[in-house]
Amino acid sequence: MNIANESWRSIWIEDGGNSIGVIDQTQLPHVFRTCSLSNCEEIVNAITKMVVRGAPLIGVAGAYGLMLALKDDPSDENLNRSFDYLNSARPTAVNLEWALNRILGKVKDIDPKDRAHAAQLEANLIAEEDVAICESIGDNGLNILKRLAKRKSISFPGEPLNVLTHCNAGWLATVDWGTALSPIYKAHRAGMNLHVWVDETRPRNQGASLTAFELGCEGIPHTVIADNAGGHLMQRRLVDLVLVGSDRTTRRGDVCNKIGTYLKALAARENNVPFYVALPFSTIDWSIEDGLAEIPIEIRSGKEVTHIQGRMDSHLNGSAINSIQLTPNGTEAFNPAFDVTPASLVSALITDRGVINPSSSELNNLLIKS
Ligand code: MRU
Repeated sequence: MNIANESWRSIWIEDGGNSIGVIDQTQLPHVFRTCSLSNCEEIVNAITKMVVRGAPLIGVAGAYGLMLALKDDPSDENLNRSFDYLNSARPTAVNLEWALNRILGKVKDIDPKDRAHAAQLEANLIAEEDVAICESIGDNGLNILKRLAKRKSISFPGEPLNVLTHCNAGWLATVDWGTALSPIYKAHRAGMNLHVWVDETRPRNQGASLTAFELGCEGIPHTVIADNAGGHLMQRRLVDLVLVGSDRTTRRGDVCNKIGTYLKALAARENNVPFYVALPFSTIDWSIEDGLAEIPIEIRSGKEVTHIQGRMDSHLNGSAINSIQLTPNGTEAFNPAFDVTPASLVSALITDRGVINPSSSELNNLLIKS
């Protein structure tokens, strides 16, 4: 994707594989800064501090983290320890464990001296596959957007298709293209008239900072709204569809995504607005059926709720990023980072392998075909 007419990916290999380059997402949209991560600890730190975030991207970062660990020490002991260390960095998205298992599968039975090289080849492959997968999600989702736009144009000719999205499921959350934003990029490039309502996504505001940044870079019309505004907009027919990503999807189609997604799904159902979830096949956790009972929900620091991060008005204090306290000193805050939307509220799952209904049988067919 483009930033100031330059093509970027969210992660890349540097120095022949001795370090990994990433965009520091904690500084966007105000400061564009890249970092070099040169060992497993730095990768874990980048994932926990959300320098890199988004389910597919943390999978790829984890794979490179295991590669860096094996460059330092390819022993069985370090392989197992680093796997667990990386896997504990964030608990909800299943891609992290999935990507680590792919590396483990390639290296565990080979001579330790060949492990780092084999890990590098596999991590590169996972990254390249992610780009292709996200592009396919875009193509599959584009067909849905085209159909909805055609239907809308009959009653409201000339009006844009209004998409509401939550959090950031764009190219910054993957290697390129994104999941929920990929069909939007494809639609924009195909000349479709669309407009995106961007939920700010408290507490960390990935919508206001990252999604707005991405859409701005691509020149896609968008408007940031307070999270609480979505239901109001749906009641007034200002949203044609909701399109979000997923950090973990169960084998019957329950979807776990950024906190607040569930409320949007409820409002969408009440107002007959279609609610679509875009996801790579790798975010399906086949070992889990009931998302509410079985998906571990990450609880993050209450400071993300009591404080807010942003740039001071430039006339007050230049461009530095500041943290501002919102609550009285000592106020307790609870910060679950994800919630589960039951399959019954999801209109369809847009995957790289096709669009399916969120049901055990359709998911199972997808698995059998793969
Ligand atoms: O906590 P984050 O910013 O990593 O959460 C990201 C999301 O919830 C995305 O919607 C998700 O990873 C979907 S896939 C790109």
